[in-house]
Amino acid sequence: MTAPGFDPVKFKAGQRALWNSASEVWSDLPPEFAAGARLLDRELLRLSGLRRGQRVLDVACGTGDTALSAAQVVGDSGSVTGIDLASDMIAAARKRADDQPHVEFRVADADDVELAPGSYDVILSRWGLMFSADRPALFRRLRELLTDDGVLAAVTWGPDHRSPMMTLGGTVLAARLELPTPPPGAPGPSGMVDPEKIRTEFTGAGFSAVTVAEFMVPFSVSSPQRYAAFVRDMSPPMMQQMLQQRFGDAGDPATWQLVAAAAEPYVAADGTVQLPSSTNLIRAVR
Ligand SMILES: C[S@@+](CC[C@H](N)C(=O)[O-])C[C@H]1O[C@@H](n2cnc3c(N)ncnc32)[C@H](O)[C@@H]1O
Repeated sequence: MTAPGFDPVKFKAGQRALWNSASEVWSDLPPEFAAGARLLDRELLRLSGLRRGQRVLDVACGTGDTALSAAQVVGDSGSVTGIDLASDMIAAARKRADDQPHVEFRVADADDVELAPGSYDVILSRWGLMFSADRPALFRRLRELLTDDGVLAAVTWGPDHRSPMMTLGGTVLAARLELPTPPPGAPGPSGMVDPEKIRTEFTGAGFSAVTVAEFMVPFSVSSPQRYAAFVRDMSPPMMQQMLQQRFGDAGDPATWQLVAAAAEPYVAADGTVQLPSSTNLIRAVR
């Protein structure tokens, strides 16, 4: 399902390096982004019907936001395991878990993880599944990890043109750095944008009662300049290094002015920038 010439080994090495370099940013998300991310956790917990005592797996858990929200619901009679391929993300998640005995974080590639079949009541994933190098195989494996009536609840970004919070800045940076455009459906932030395709993929992996609903995250920032600062804050160090190499300065004024300009059409009457962004809320039953 990936493009011809796709090299999974090279891809994984790149992903590890990228996400390790992003762990500081994801440990302390800009407040405007964190507010939207919290709304998604609320939706995921609601969709999954999570309750006290259940066993949860958080796939691509990053620094542990969703896993730690789930841990509060399941309490110490339940358990939460978070997995992520980036060891720096896991180190940050462990610090935040503060030795809660029912929460465990492991460095593991979801595409290659060995966990006991039938051992989770709920699988959660916020902005994680679309980075898989082999989604059909991953979804089949996740299904096997669930108990008989287990539920998966996950969220991915919607179509680029409906998700300006991430894509406005990303598009400017990609153009400035002349980065290649990934083919549709390739692993990455925009790898699972099409609801129909998502339904087909989960159903094809054997899941039942698959639903995909759009949820608009009401992102808002105070000004176009603040939007440019947000994009800069969220850009992983690797991206900043590329800007440095190309323009002699990661703070290259022309680049960041272009990012601010991209936000101008979204300025509301009160001067704030309104960037409601589309996400796909996915629910699937084993
Ligand atoms: C956009 S971040 C989201 C992190 C977290 N779920 C959150 O919402 O805060 C994507 C995460 O996916 C992880 N990731 C990417 N590919 C993965 C894989 N194959 N297995 C496990 N984790 C993966 C990255 O390391 C990164 O932490």
